[in-house]
This record gives sequence, C-alpha cells and structure tokens, in this order.
Amino acid sequence: MSSDGLSLQYQGILLPRETHSLECLEFAQEFKFRDDDIMAAVYPKSGTIWMQEILPLLLNGGDLTPIQTIPNWDRVPWLEEKRLAVIADTLTAPRAMVTHFPFRLMPPSFHASKAKVIYVMRNPKDILVSSFYFHQMAEFLDDPGTFDEFIKKFLDGNVMFGKWTDHVKGWRSAELGDRILFITYEEMCEDLPAALRQMSDFLGRNPSEGTIQKIAQHCTFKTMKTNRMSNFSLVPKEYMNPEKSPFLRKGVPGDWKKHFSSEQLARFNSAIRKELQSESFTLPYKL
Ligand code: A3P
Repeated sequence: MSSDGLSLQYQGILLPRETHSLECLEFAQEFKFRDDDIMAAVYPKSGTIWMQEILPLLLNGGDLTPIQTIPNWDRVPWLEEKRLAVIADTLTAPRAMVTHFPFRLMPPSFHASKAKVIYVMRNPKDILVSSFYFHQMAEFLDDPGTFDEFIKKFLDGNVMFGKWTDHVKGWRSAELGDRILFITYEEMCEDLPAALRQMSDFLGRNPSEGTIQKIAQHCTFKTMKTNRMSNFSLVPKEYMNPEKSPFLRKGVPGDWKKHFSSEQLARFNSAIRKELQSESFTLPYKL
C-alpha cells in the first residue's frame, strides 16, 4: 500500500494520516474532560497498550469482560486519534483514555478538570528500539532506514509526537500536584503487582490482594500476546504486519544492549544529557 508516513504536521509534531487528522486533533482540543476521567500519558512505545489492559481491570475490580470483548482502541481510546469521535458517547464513567500528546497540547478542559493522569516513562534507548521495529511492521509509517539513520530521526524528533525529551520535560514539570502519578515501564516489569497497588491507591481503589494478583496475571506480556482484543491481530496485515515484527515484540527492559554500538550509545547518551541538562528531575536511567 502507499505510505503517507508522517505527513501530518500539527503544532510542531509529526503524525501519520492513517490514524490522525486535523479534525480529530480539533475534536481532542474541544473534548470536555470530566473530574472523574482517568488518563494514561505515554510517549509512543513506552507501554500504552499495557495501560489499556490495566486501567479497565483496575477500574472494574478485575472484571475481564472489557479486555476480552472490546479492542484496546475502543476500551481505552486515544484522546488524539480519529476513533474517539466515533465512540466518545459510548464510554461509561469513570472514562479511561490514553494520550501520546506532549503536555503542552492537552486541551483546555483537561486543565480545568480534576482528571487524574498516570505518566508512564520508559528508557529512551528501549523506546527507540521498539519504535524501529514498529516502523517496520506499521505499513502506514515510512521505512525506518538503518538503525543508525533511525537514531538520528529519533534524536531530531522526526518521529511520531516529536522528541522524547520534550515529552518528558513537559509532563515532568506539569504542575498537577496529586493529580499525576509517575511510574516507569521498568518498575512495571520488575514487580507488576506492586505497580498495580501504587496505581490503585492513586485512583482511590482498594482491590483485594487476590484481585491484584488476578489483574497482574492477565496483564503479563505472555497473556496479552494471546489476547486478540489487545495484540492488534484484528488489524488487517496491510496496516500492521506481525510477520515483519509483532506489536508485542519483546516486552523487556534492556533490549537496546543488543542494538547499539558503543559509538551510537555515546552519541545517544550525550544528546539526551544535553537536552535534559537544565532540568531539575533526574532520570532513573544511566546516561
Ligand atoms: P517492545 O517493542 O520493546 O517489545 P506502546 O503500547 O506504547 O506502543 O508500547 C509497546 C511496547 O510495550 C512494546 O515493547 C511491547 O512489547 C511492550 N508491552 C506491551 N505490553 C507489555 C507487557 N504486558 N509487558 C511488557 N511489555 C509490554
């Protein structure tokens, strides 16, 4: 099929036209947030669909019905994607959504509301690797080129939703007080039940230990890989081709070690360090 790649420019970021349009971005800007809405803010390839599995389970006391009967993009829709306009009225409270938007693009009603946000951060080197393979399987995106070429694209922000550093800076410095919880992909991999307890405390839920264990079991990489409502196997191969690379690919921290040469690593670390040098937060990753 023909590829538009990232041909849609919006407020300083690039997006693919298959999933985004100016109309849906305007719809997102006018979207009316409610105080009980829950949002996971995630830079692409940092665990978005993982949150689309976790949130309905946490919010429904571990009831498996949503994750077994509704595709991830309809059960916890993207704020900025075309699909939201179609299903917005069908979402029941508390509504759970995800967004890849940098903080500066969050709509006015979000700021006026008390909606809560879970921000998921992942090691940028693993994001880059995950994204490199995603560009190969997502037929609507441009070919990533060589790994070295893709490092440059990533560092220059010529990837979906712009620079990772801008995303992290914006959300880390957002003054949302107790409306925001920061969590990392790596913490979730290391001890998912502990991460789930942290999230449920933040959301004011009090699931039993049995429910936490049940949710954790249904949100493992292995289980999600077999869930047709979450593994993108419902999407035609012309759009996402798992024969090139599955969406749920490795699901581990540290895969970057198999991909970066020492020169690439030094170049990458130095660029990220430079971008973040004046920030007051420290990354939980060695640079
Ligand atoms: P890898 O490509 O490194 O495997 P997103 O949903 O934001 O696009 O992120 C996709 C990444 O999250 C992929 O990383 C995918 O495998 C990983 N992922 C999704 N669900 C996961 C889970 N339950 N456990 C660990 N990793 C998961």
